Amino acid sequence: MDTQLRRKREQLKDRHRFDNIVCAPDSPMVGICEQVRQIAPYDIPVLVTGESGTGKELITRALHYSSHRADKPFVLENCGAMPVQLLESELFGHARGAFTGANTERVGLLEQADGGTVFLDEIGDTSLEFQVKLLRFLQEGEIRPLGSNRSRKVTVRVISATNRNLEDEVRKGRFREDLFYRLSAMPVHLPALRDRAMDIPVIAQAILKSVMEAYGKQVNGFSEEALACMCEYHWPGNVRELENEVRRMLVMSTGDELGANLLSSRVLKGGGDSELEDELLSDVEGNLKNRVEMLEARILKETLIRHRWNKSQAALELGLSRVGLRAKLERYGLEPGTLNQSN
Ligand SMILES: Nc1ncnc2c1ncn2[C@@H]1O[C@H](COP(=O)(O)OP(=O)(O)O)[C@@H](O)[C@H]1O
Ligand SMILES: [Mg+2]
Repeated sequence: MDTQLRRKREQLKDRHRFDNIVCAPDSPMVGICEQVRQIAPYDIPVLVTGESGTGKELITRALHYSSHRADKPFVLENCGAMPVQLLESELFGHARGAFTGANTERVGLLEQADGGTVFLDEIGDTSLEFQVKLLRFLQEGEIRPLGSNRSRKVTVRVISATNRNLEDEVRKGRFREDLFYRLSAMPVHLPALRDRAMDIPVIAQAILKSVMEAYGKQVNGFSEEALACMCEYHWPGNVRELENEVRRMLVMSTGDELGANLLSSRVLKGGGDSELEDELLSDVEGNLKNRVEMLEARILKETLIRHRWNKSQAALELGLSRVGLRAKLERYGLEPGTLNQSN
């Protein structure tokens, strides 16, 4: 009975954590989360890769909280662009007087995290000098604080993350090959948001819900057009950028729906002219989304020519607001000049 209850609680905890990772039913994230859920109970090192803002930290936390280390510390260290001595003393600790300014002893993060999980973020940005020290720790399972002759056994699970291509870094001699293999026993790659556009509406809505709660401001949701614009944009900052966009839209909104007009011009303009050309000219056999976009651009062009670039009339015929039409024109880079040229 007791163990049953316990297991239930554990399951609940697990599901809850992975629930924070919002995705569409047909998203590649479904399989990735499943894979991470599967490896969570085992102490195998995990290397999470993916562009900035794709959810590397989020999935790492989910992993930790569904592992047997869940009740032990989860410690995060951002290794990016940190002087090697500082990084070393943060992770391994230092003895009093180990270097100028080390007035007190410091217990390193690895020791603090004993029994738990250490998340080494931006591991691809570390120096070769630091990599040697990390490798030694991983091989020996012992830490020796700077300037100290005491060493201590520490058992932590190491999860590392990077937005770089570590194999590339290895090839270029910037990352130690032996360390790479140590860290990447289980590689997990998170695709960029633009490569899983089906996730954009559901994540945007989930973000909106939480931002509405946080700000105490309610709206009914996004307009179709706003969602369409969001799905077409390339989101270089991934989910983090989407969060900022949604937050700003809500703050700026005056109606009860978040329209495309609230999107920043960066999002409305979309991919840029060369991408448009690719879509229109060479990508004829693209997927449905590409073809629909191509069609939309053609309809806009055709209607505008017919109405001699009178946007009010074109908008009226197409059932768009003037703001909506202007957004589409901007997005496809359609102007009288380009129209004449390509006509
Ligand atoms: N699938 C997702 N569903 C909901 N929120 C997400 C998702 N992916 C990322 N986020 C949110 O986006 C932000 C950036 O995620 P983070 O894990 O910090 O990315 P990374 O570590 O890859 O830079 C965080 O606020 C995170 O909660
Ligand atoms: Mg991060």
